[in-house]
Amino acid sequence: MLIDNHGRPINYLRLAVTDRCNLRCFYCMPEDGLNWLSRKELMSYEEMLRACTLLVSMGIQKIRITGGEPFVRKDIMSLLTSISELNGLDELSLTTNGVLTAPHVAQLKNIGVKSVNLSLDTLDAGRFFAITRRDEFAAVMTTLDELLKHDIEVKINAVVMDGKNTQDIIPLVELTKELPVSVRFIEEMPFNGDGHIYTGLNWDYIRILDAIKDHFPEIKKMEDPAYSTAYNYHIPGHMGSVGIIAAYSRTFCGTCNRIRITPQGTLKNCLYDNGVLNVKDLIREGKSDEDIKESLLNAFNNRVKDGWEAESLVSTGIHESMATIGG
Ligand code: GTP
Ligand code: 5AD
Ligand code: SF4
Repeated sequence: MLIDNHGRPINYLRLAVTDRCNLRCFYCMPEDGLNWLSRKELMSYEEMLRACTLLVSMGIQKIRITGGEPFVRKDIMSLLTSISELNGLDELSLTTNGVLTAPHVAQLKNIGVKSVNLSLDTLDAGRFFAITRRDEFAAVMTTLDELLKHDIEVKINAVVMDGKNTQDIIPLVELTKELPVSVRFIEEMPFNGDGHIYTGLNWDYIRILDAIKDHFPEIKKMEDPAYSTAYNYHIPGHMGSVGIIAAYSRTFCGTCNRIRITPQGTLKNCLYDNGVLNVKDLIREGKSDEDIKESLLNAFNNRVKDGWEAESLVSTGIHESMATIGG
């Protein structure tokens, strides 16, 4: 078991496989996209598999594939299949925007993916276009259908944005009436990639919960799974559940069990830190398994206490896009 310098177990890797995306969610990246990483800057699948193999041998039990959008990277199913075969890995899951995902759902099921997190900020096609700047609402809904048909657990991620989709909170909650999904509302974070100064948060987790409670006073708190980023709730009679992720308020850092590897191979101990090590560089320098493991252990022994400490160490302020971090 990997334990960090604050006594927290580390057993969860979030691996971002690309910075590219086929949507342009304005809270994540500018309309023109990002200055995409070149092929050479990206970790290859072979390098990712080596990193995953080492980390699983050290105690990582769960891997979540993120991006960018994982399905825009060529032949992503081959990487997912190889990772799913790693000895000692208990859980492989992914976070996707759902635009290209539907045709792969049957194979995801085949390789043992039990749960998929789907980004969907609104149930209105017009607002979907306004938020993502692409007309792909129908494709995402097809993916949702396919996932449910294949009995894959679905968590829907909706970033709550003042003046953009707060009118969608109740319709999204209503989705849990007939569908066995978890709809999670996420506080917006400053990772929009265009360098503009983040003006703070108008919709924090308390305000989001109040808005839901106003409409569904019968809502009940559920017991949260260990290491959950979400506070989970259930409305009596509904098939699914509702979650709220205090991603900006960072209320869950005390039980943070996750590390990240970005598409360019940077190991991050916290979503809000600047990166502590480049795993791809170690691999390209020809380092042995033992050397790489030692560097990783050293990084895990120097984790920040929480996202506030991490942010205070980023002297230039946060300019990154979520797509280069992986969420
Ligand atoms: P599971 O618990 O594995 O389902 O993952 P998750 O819900 O944390 O992952 P997902 O990729 O669906 O991300 C949902 C939201 O939580 C995104 O906005 C993430 O950026 C945010 N998030 C995930 N991990 C962290 C974290 O460690 N810190 C903060 N502040 N936000 C996080
Ligand atoms: N703030 C909060 N969540 C974000 N995501 C992307 N950008 C942001 C942001 N600025 C979410 C996406 C996706 C998850 C991985 O991160 O909606 O569901
Ligand atoms: Fe793409 Fe996800 Fe960023 Fe939207 S939030 S632009 S879907 S990477």
